[in-house]
Amino acid sequence: MRFPESVDLREVGMRDGLQLEAPIATDAKLRMLDAIVATGVRRIEVTSFVSPSAVPALADADAMAAELHNWPDASFSALVANLKGAHRAVDAGLRDLEYVVSASDGHSLANARRTTDQALAAVGEIASVAHQVGGRCEVIIATAWDCPFDGRTAPSRVVDAARRAVEDGADKLCLGDTIGTVAPGRVVSLVSAVRAAVPAVDVGVHFHNTRGTGLACVLAAVDLGVTSIDASVGGVGGCPFAPGASGNIATEEVVYMLTESGVATGLDLQAVLDAAAVVEKEVGHPLASNLYRAGGPNRPRGR
Ligand code: COA
Ligand code: ZN
Repeated sequence: MRFPESVDLREVGMRDGLQLEAPIATDAKLRMLDAIVATGVRRIEVTSFVSPSAVPALADADAMAAELHNWPDASFSALVANLKGAHRAVDAGLRDLEYVVSASDGHSLANARRTTDQALAAVGEIASVAHQVGGRCEVIIATAWDCPFDGRTAPSRVVDAARRAVEDGADKLCLGDTIGTVAPGRVVSLVSAVRAAVPAVDVGVHFHNTRGTGLACVLAAVDLGVTSIDASVGGVGGCPFAPGASGNIATEEVVYMLTESGVATGLDLQAVLDAAAVVEKEVGHPLASNLYRAGGPNRPRGR
């Protein structure tokens, strides 16, 4: 395998992690965020500016944004699903946006009440909202491999969406395995196809561990040289508009696997486990992460 020296993880527990949970208080989220910043992670997707009736758990996006000045060294971004959300996000002081576009019409309609084509038509305006404040717009292509409504997503739909998003102003792309079905073979083929279509743009990956293949998919992507990887502390997460969706790949498991394989993440594993303990307390149920439940790496102690 040909691993890069380092990867650039993005912590998505505050957004993807919490959106499927019962709403928790802003104060509790700020305690989580403080623990997450302490892990050393450089990029944090902190919330989403979507309809509060669609995602009640993130209805406090403005209140969260107002507190971000407390962590001046972290880099925060927010997810949006329409132009209104993009305006709300920059008005709240965020500059970097993730705009989600589902590659399948079924999920796109359930998630954002518009087809893939209609969602792509908004990339230009949303990217320019970010660019006007000196920020960047990443397009997250959701259901890139499989859709809970439409079945397998044709790779050509993803490649076409990627090309169009970049033509219309996306600075970066991320391929999302929204329902946690993909295995390494299809990761390699789709990432390769998308990179060939938009060679000038960084392509990241976003996996869920629903069927136990999440870490294997990370390794396959890293072997291709992908360095932008999403994960959530404790493995919380999932899309409320994708039946059967479950947790993201756990940040601590990605950090453990990559560090032990000689790939630097910049995160402190013990600090990630400490953050997972905070997340577990605040969400109020046991976390999915195997590494967290095992109590950490349990290396032999020196005498
Ligand atoms: N922020 C806050 N409110 C918003 C909003 C936003 N970004 N976009 C729309 N709304 C409000 C509208 O003001 C309107 O409110 P009203 O009923 O009080 O007038 C209501 O939501 C419906 O607006 P409309 O434009 O008709 O949107 P919709 O009902 O077609 O819903 C979305 C479309 C995109 C707003 C909604 O489906 C959504 O927010 N989805 C989020 C999906 C998500 O976050 N998924 C998880 C991440 S993948
Ligand atoms: Zn997700």
